[in-house]
Amino acid sequence: MNSDDIERVRQGWAVAAADPEALTTAFYGHLFRIDPTSRALFGEDMAAQRGKLALTLDFIMGVLDDTDTLVPAARDLARRHVGYGLRPDQYSHAGAALIHALEDQLGTAFGAEDRAAWERVYGALEAVILDTISET
Ligand code: HEM
Repeated sequence: MNSDDIERVRQGWAVAAADPEALTTAFYGHLFRIDPTSRALFGEDMAAQRGKLALTLDFIMGVLDDTDTLVPAARDLARRHVGYGLRPDQYSHAGAALIHALEDQLGTAFGAEDRAAWERVYGALEAVILDTISET
C-alpha cells in the first residue's frame, strides 16, 4: 500500500460512504453469500452492526497513512474478533465482500486500478490481523 493507493481508496470511500447504510447492507449481503457460515456468528439485528462497521472503516480510512495508529487499532480489532469465534480464513471473505459492495455503490466509477488499490490496502490490514491472530 503506497500513498497513491491511499489517495485512491480514500476518494472511493468518500463517495461510497456517503450512504453507509447501503454500503454496509451490501457488504453483509455479500459476506453471507460468500461465507454462509459467518451468518451464525452475528445476532438477528444487524442495524447496530452495520453502523459499527461503517464507523470503523471510516476511522481506518483516516489513519491509513498513520501506521502508529493503524497497526495497534488493527491488532485490537483482531484480538476482539478472536473472541467472536472467527477463523483466520474468514478475513479474505470480508475483503471480497468489501470489494463487491464498493462495486455495487460505485458502479463503473470503480475500475481495475481502484480494485487493485483496495486489494492492496485491505491486504495490508489483513496481514496485520493474521499476524496478531497467529500470536494469540
Ligand atoms: C477487517 C475486517 C473487519 C472489520 C473492520 C470489522 C469490524 C467490526 C466491528 C467494528 C465490530 C464491533 C465490535 C468491535 O469493534 O469489536 C465487529 C464485530 C463483529 N464482527 Fe467484525 N469486522 C471485520 C471482519 C469480520 C469478519 C470477516 C467476520 C466474520 C466472518 C466478522 C464478524 C464479527 C462478529 C461476529 C462480530 C460481533 C457481533 C456481535 O456482537 O454480535 N468481522 N466487527
